[in-house]
Amino acid sequence: MFRVLGFCLVAWARAEPACTSRAVESAAPARPCLCAFDVDRTLTGFQELLSECPRNLVMEGIKDYAYLYATPRGFGFLTLSQLSQGLNTTFCRNCYLGIASAGGVGLDDEKQAILAALKAAASAEASAAMPNWTTEADVTLQEQTPPPFVAWCPEGQKHLCTAKIVEWYRARDVPILDEDVYFFDDKEDNVRPFTGTSYNALQVSCGTRNGTRGLCGGTLQEAQPAKGVFLCHGAAQVCAQDLDSPRLI
Ligand SMILES: *[C@@H]1O[C@H](CO)[C@@H](O)[C@H](O)[C@H]1NC(C)=O
Ligand SMILES: *[C@@H]1O[C@H](CO)[C@@H](O)[C@H](O)[C@H]1NC(C)=O
Ligand SMILES: *[C@@H]1O[C@H](CO)[C@@H](O)[C@H](O)[C@H]1NC(C)=O
Repeated sequence: MFRVLGFCLVAWARAEPACTSRAVESAAPARPCLCAFDVDRTLTGFQELLSECPRNLVMEGIKDYAYLYATPRGFGFLTLSQLSQGLNTTFCRNCYLGIASAGGVGLDDEKQAILAALKAAASAEASAAMPNWTTEADVTLQEQTPPPFVAWCPEGQKHLCTAKIVEWYRARDVPILDEDVYFFDDKEDNVRPFTGTSYNALQVSCGTRNGTRGLCGGTLQEAQPAKGVFLCHGAAQVCAQDLDSPRLI
Protein backbone atom coordinates (compact mmCIF):
# COMPACT_ATOMS: atom_id res chain seq x y z
CA MET A 1 0.00 0.00 0.00
CA PHE A 2 2.96 2.33 0.35
CA ARG A 3 3.19 2.77 -3.39
CA VAL A 4 -0.52 3.49 -3.60
CA LEU A 5 -0.19 6.08 -0.86
CA GLY A 6 2.75 7.67 -2.70
CA PHE A 7 0.79 8.01 -5.92
CA CYS A 8 -2.20 9.39 -4.16
CA LEU A 9 -0.15 11.99 -2.33
CA VAL A 10 0.85 13.24 -5.76
CA ALA A 11 -2.81 13.32 -6.74
CA TRP A 12 -3.56 15.22 -3.54
CA ALA A 13 -1.55 18.20 -4.78
CA ARG A 14 -4.36 18.80 -7.24
CA ALA A 15 -7.68 20.30 -6.20
CA GLU A 16 -9.67 17.07 -6.01
CA PRO A 17 -7.85 13.89 -5.06
CA ALA A 18 -8.68 11.10 -7.49
CA CYS A 19 -8.04 8.55 -4.78
CA THR A 20 -7.23 8.41 -1.11
CA SER A 21 -6.16 5.39 0.84
CA ARG A 22 -6.17 4.40 4.44
CA ALA A 23 -3.49 1.92 5.36
CA VAL A 24 -5.09 1.00 8.65
CA GLU A 25 -8.67 0.31 9.51
CA SER A 26 -10.30 2.94 11.69
CA ALA A 27 -12.60 2.02 14.59
CA ALA A 28 -15.98 0.53 13.74
CA PRO A 29 -17.43 2.67 10.98
CA ALA A 30 -20.36 4.88 11.88
CA ARG A 31 -22.08 4.17 8.58
CA PRO A 32 -22.94 0.83 6.96
CA CYS A 33 -20.60 -0.20 4.15
CA LEU A 34 -20.76 -2.80 1.38
CA CYS A 35 -18.03 -5.12 0.12
CA ALA A 36 -19.01 -6.73 -3.18
CA PHE A 37 -16.85 -9.38 -4.77
CA ASP A 38 -16.24 -11.04 -8.07
CA VAL A 39 -15.84 -14.82 -7.57
CA ASP A 40 -13.52 -16.44 -10.13
CA ARG A 41 -9.85 -15.55 -9.40
CA THR A 42 -10.92 -13.05 -6.73
CA LEU A 43 -12.51 -15.18 -4.00
CA THR A 44 -11.08 -18.23 -5.76
CA GLY A 45 -7.74 -19.03 -7.39
CA PHE A 46 -6.82 -21.27 -10.30
CA GLN A 47 -8.23 -24.65 -9.34
CA GLU A 48 -5.85 -26.86 -7.32
CA LEU A 49 -2.76 -24.81 -8.32
CA LEU A 50 -1.10 -24.89 -4.91
CA SER A 51 2.39 -25.05 -6.43
CA GLU A 52 2.04 -21.42 -7.55
CA CYS A 53 -0.53 -20.37 -4.93
CA PRO A 54 0.60 -21.99 -1.67
CA ARG A 55 -1.75 -19.90 0.49
CA ASN A 56 -4.85 -21.13 -1.32
CA LEU A 57 -7.15 -23.86 0.00
CA VAL A 58 -8.58 -26.70 -2.13
CA MET A 59 -12.15 -27.72 -1.29
CA GLU A 60 -12.02 -31.37 -2.35
CA GLY A 61 -15.19 -32.63 -3.99
CA ILE A 62 -16.62 -29.22 -4.91
CA LYS A 63 -16.39 -28.86 -8.69
CA ASP A 64 -15.48 -25.44 -10.05
CA TYR A 65 -15.93 -25.24 -13.82
CA ALA A 66 -14.61 -21.69 -14.20
CA TYR A 67 -12.41 -21.35 -17.30
CA LEU A 68 -11.88 -25.13 -17.40
CA TYR A 69 -15.13 -26.32 -19.03
CA ALA A 70 -13.35 -26.67 -22.40
CA THR A 71 -10.61 -28.91 -20.96
CA PRO A 72 -10.80 -32.73 -21.02
CA ARG A 73 -11.66 -32.93 -17.30
CA GLY A 74 -14.00 -29.95 -17.50
CA PHE A 75 -13.47 -28.74 -13.94
CA GLY A 76 -11.08 -28.55 -11.01
CA PHE A 77 -11.90 -28.56 -7.33
CA LEU A 78 -12.88 -25.20 -5.90
CA THR A 79 -9.81 -23.42 -4.53
CA LEU A 80 -10.32 -20.53 -2.13
CA SER A 81 -8.00 -17.55 -2.39
CA GLN A 82 -6.24 -15.99 0.58
CA LEU A 83 -8.85 -13.22 0.42
CA SER A 84 -11.88 -15.48 0.85
CA GLN A 85 -10.22 -17.53 3.60
CA GLY A 86 -9.27 -14.48 5.64
CA LEU A 87 -12.12 -12.11 4.89
CA ASN A 88 -12.87 -11.91 8.61
CA THR A 89 -9.50 -10.21 9.15
CA THR A 90 -10.26 -7.41 6.66
CA PHE A 91 -12.35 -4.25 7.05
CA CYS A 92 -15.10 -6.09 5.14
CA ARG A 93 -16.00 -7.94 8.34
CA ASN A 94 -17.70 -4.66 9.36
CA CYS A 95 -19.60 -4.36 6.08
CA TYR A 96 -22.57 -5.90 4.34
CA LEU A 97 -21.52 -8.34 1.63
CA GLY A 98 -22.49 -9.21 -1.93
CA ILE A 99 -21.38 -10.97 -5.12
CA ALA A 100 -21.15 -9.75 -8.74
CA SER A 101 -19.78 -12.60 -10.84
CA ALA A 102 -19.62 -12.91 -14.62
CA GLY A 103 -19.66 -16.69 -14.27
CA GLY A 104 -22.42 -18.80 -12.82
CA VAL A 105 -20.51 -19.72 -9.62
CA GLY A 106 -20.92 -23.42 -10.31
CA LEU A 107 -23.64 -25.59 -8.86
CA ASP A 108 -25.24 -25.20 -5.47
CA ASP A 109 -22.27 -26.79 -3.67
CA GLU A 110 -19.91 -24.07 -4.90
CA LYS A 111 -22.47 -21.37 -4.08
CA GLN A 112 -22.81 -22.77 -0.55
CA ALA A 113 -19.02 -22.73 -0.09
CA ILE A 114 -18.74 -19.12 -1.28
CA LEU A 115 -21.66 -18.11 0.92
CA ALA A 116 -20.04 -19.88 3.89
CA ALA A 117 -16.85 -17.86 3.33
CA LEU A 118 -18.88 -14.64 3.37
CA LYS A 119 -20.85 -15.68 6.44
CA ALA A 120 -17.65 -16.61 8.29
CA ALA A 121 -16.51 -13.01 7.87
CA ALA A 122 -19.73 -11.10 8.43
CA SER A 123 -21.19 -9.71 11.64
CA ALA A 124 -24.30 -11.49 12.96
CA GLU A 125 -26.42 -8.71 11.50
CA ALA A 126 -24.78 -8.74 8.06
CA SER A 127 -24.85 -12.54 8.03
CA ALA A 128 -28.56 -12.66 8.88
CA ALA A 129 -29.26 -10.19 6.07
CA MET A 130 -27.91 -12.64 3.48
CA PRO A 131 -30.39 -15.13 2.05
CA ASN A 132 -29.50 -18.69 1.11
CA TRP A 133 -28.09 -18.97 -2.42
CA THR A 134 -29.33 -21.92 -4.44
CA THR A 135 -30.32 -22.24 -8.08
CA GLU A 136 -30.51 -25.92 -8.96
CA ALA A 137 -34.14 -26.31 -7.88
CA ASP A 138 -35.37 -23.24 -9.77
CA VAL A 139 -34.68 -22.93 -13.52
CA THR A 140 -35.58 -19.22 -13.49
CA LEU A 141 -32.50 -18.67 -11.33
CA GLN A 142 -30.21 -20.33 -13.83
CA GLU A 143 -29.94 -17.03 -15.68
CA GLN A 144 -28.90 -13.99 -13.67
CA THR A 145 -29.42 -14.57 -9.95
CA PRO A 146 -30.89 -11.72 -7.89
CA PRO A 147 -28.96 -9.48 -5.48
CA PRO A 148 -27.18 -9.62 -3.17
CA PHE A 149 -25.59 -12.55 -5.06
CA VAL A 150 -25.53 -11.66 -8.75
CA ALA A 151 -24.21 -14.48 -10.94
CA TRP A 152 -24.04 -14.13 -14.74
CA CYS A 153 -23.40 -10.40 -14.44
CA PRO A 154 -21.83 -9.53 -17.84
CA GLU A 155 -18.18 -8.49 -17.92
CA GLY A 156 -17.84 -4.72 -17.83
CA GLN A 157 -21.25 -4.28 -16.20
CA LYS A 158 -20.35 -5.07 -12.63
CA HIS A 159 -20.86 -1.45 -11.60
CA LEU A 160 -24.50 -1.93 -12.65
CA CYS A 161 -24.81 -5.21 -10.74
CA THR A 162 -23.17 -3.57 -7.72
CA ALA A 163 -25.84 -0.84 -7.93
CA LYS A 164 -28.50 -3.59 -7.75
CA ILE A 165 -26.87 -4.97 -4.60
CA VAL A 166 -26.76 -1.50 -3.02
CA GLU A 167 -30.45 -0.95 -3.87
CA TRP A 168 -31.32 -4.37 -2.47
CA TYR A 169 -29.81 -3.47 0.90
CA ARG A 170 -31.32 0.03 0.88
CA ALA A 171 -34.73 -1.53 0.30
CA ARG A 172 -34.10 -3.51 3.50
CA ASP A 173 -33.39 -0.39 5.52
CA VAL A 174 -29.60 -0.59 5.29
CA PRO A 175 -28.75 2.96 4.14
CA ILE A 176 -25.41 2.35 2.40
CA LEU A 177 -23.94 5.49 0.82
CA ASP A 178 -22.30 5.15 -2.61
CA GLU A 179 -18.97 6.29 -1.15
CA ASP A 180 -19.07 3.39 1.32
CA VAL A 181 -19.27 0.74 -1.42
CA TYR A 182 -16.13 -1.29 -2.25
CA PHE A 183 -15.93 -3.71 -5.18
CA PHE A 184 -13.13 -6.23 -5.74
CA ASP A 185 -12.34 -8.01 -9.02
CA ASP A 186 -9.28 -9.48 -10.70
CA LYS A 187 -10.03 -8.02 -14.15
CA GLU A 188 -9.30 -4.49 -15.27
CA ASP A 189 -12.31 -4.49 -17.62
CA ASN A 190 -14.62 -4.92 -14.66
CA VAL A 191 -12.94 -2.40 -12.37
CA ARG A 192 -12.36 0.46 -14.81
CA PRO A 193 -16.07 1.28 -15.41
CA PHE A 194 -16.36 2.19 -11.71
CA THR A 195 -14.50 5.44 -12.55
CA GLY A 196 -17.88 6.69 -13.77
CA THR A 197 -19.54 6.00 -10.40
CA SER A 198 -19.19 7.17 -6.79
CA TYR A 199 -18.34 3.63 -5.71
CA ASN A 200 -14.82 2.46 -4.85
CA ALA A 201 -13.30 -0.44 -6.78
CA LEU A 202 -10.01 -2.28 -6.42
CA GLN A 203 -8.45 -4.73 -8.83
CA VAL A 204 -6.96 -7.73 -7.01
CA SER A 205 -4.57 -10.61 -7.65
CA CYS A 206 -2.10 -8.01 -8.92
CA GLY A 207 0.94 -10.05 -7.92
CA THR A 208 -0.17 -13.22 -9.68
CA ARG A 209 -1.61 -12.83 -13.17
CA ASN A 210 -2.88 -15.27 -15.78
CA GLY A 211 -3.27 -13.18 -18.92
CA THR A 212 -6.06 -10.65 -18.28
CA ARG A 213 -7.16 -12.71 -15.25
CA GLY A 214 -5.81 -13.11 -11.79
CA LEU A 215 -4.07 -16.41 -11.07
CA CYS A 216 -4.14 -17.04 -7.31
CA GLY A 217 -6.99 -14.65 -6.56
CA GLY A 218 -7.22 -11.75 -4.11
CA THR A 219 -4.88 -11.34 -1.17
CA LEU A 220 -5.72 -9.94 2.26
CA GLN A 221 -3.46 -6.92 1.68
CA GLU A 222 -5.50 -6.03 -1.38
CA ALA A 223 -8.73 -5.67 0.60
CA GLN A 224 -8.16 -2.09 1.70
CA PRO A 225 -10.89 0.49 2.33
CA ALA A 226 -9.28 2.81 -0.20
CA LYS A 227 -11.35 5.53 -1.82
CA GLY A 228 -11.31 5.65 -5.60
CA VAL A 229 -10.68 3.17 -8.39
CA PHE A 230 -7.45 1.19 -8.29
CA LEU A 231 -5.91 -0.94 -11.02
CA CYS A 232 -2.99 -3.34 -10.95
CA HIS A 233 0.33 -1.77 -11.92
CA GLY A 234 2.88 -4.49 -11.51
CA ALA A 235 2.06 -6.08 -8.18
CA ALA A 236 0.64 -2.82 -6.75
CA GLN A 237 -2.85 -1.32 -6.79
CA VAL A 238 -2.57 2.18 -8.26
CA CYS A 239 -5.16 4.93 -8.60
CA ALA A 240 -6.65 4.55 -12.10
CA GLN A 241 -6.53 8.29 -12.81
CA ASP A 242 -2.83 8.43 -11.95
CA LEU A 243 -2.16 5.49 -14.26
CA ASP A 244 -3.89 7.39 -17.05
CA SER A 245 -1.62 10.43 -16.44
CA PRO A 246 1.78 8.74 -16.91
CA ARG A 247 3.75 11.87 -16.00
CA LEU A 248 2.56 11.43 -12.40
CA ILE A 249 4.06 7.95 -12.05
C1 LIG B 1 -11.50 -15.99 10.93
O1 LIG B 1 -12.11 -17.20 10.57
C2 LIG B 1 -11.27 -18.33 10.74
C3 LIG B 1 -11.95 -19.53 10.12
O2 LIG B 1 -13.32 -19.49 10.26
C4 LIG B 1 -10.97 -18.50 12.23
O3 LIG B 1 -10.13 -19.60 12.42
C5 LIG B 1 -10.29 -17.23 12.72
O4 LIG B 1 -10.11 -17.30 14.12
C6 LIG B 1 -11.12 -16.00 12.41
N1 LIG B 1 -10.34 -14.80 12.71
C7 LIG B 1 -10.89 -13.70 13.23
C8 LIG B 1 -9.96 -12.55 13.44
O5 LIG B 1 -12.06 -13.64 13.54
C1 LIG C 1 -29.38 -23.58 1.69
O1 LIG C 1 -29.65 -24.39 0.56
C2 LIG C 1 -28.89 -25.60 0.51
C3 LIG C 1 -29.15 -26.28 -0.81
O2 LIG C 1 -30.52 -26.46 -1.03
C4 LIG C 1 -29.23 -26.46 1.71
O3 LIG C 1 -28.44 -27.63 1.70
C5 LIG C 1 -28.95 -25.67 2.98
O4 LIG C 1 -29.37 -26.41 4.10
C6 LIG C 1 -29.69 -24.33 2.97
N1 LIG C 1 -29.25 -23.55 4.11
C7 LIG C 1 -30.09 -22.86 4.86
C8 LIG C 1 -29.49 -22.10 6.00
O5 LIG C 1 -31.29 -22.82 4.64
C1 LIG D 1 -2.80 -19.58 -16.82
O1 LIG D 1 -2.30 -20.39 -15.81
C2 LIG D 1 -2.24 -21.77 -16.16
C3 LIG D 1 -1.77 -22.54 -14.93
O2 LIG D 1 -0.53 -22.08 -14.47
C4 LIG D 1 -1.30 -21.96 -17.35
O3 LIG D 1 -1.32 -23.30 -17.75
C5 LIG D 1 -1.77 -21.07 -18.50
O4 LIG D 1 -0.85 -21.15 -19.54
C6 LIG D 1 -1.90 -19.64 -18.04
N1 LIG D 1 -2.42 -18.82 -19.11
C7 LIG D 1 -1.98 -17.58 -19.34
C8 LIG D 1 -2.64 -16.85 -20.47
O5 LIG D 1 -1.13 -17.06 -18.66
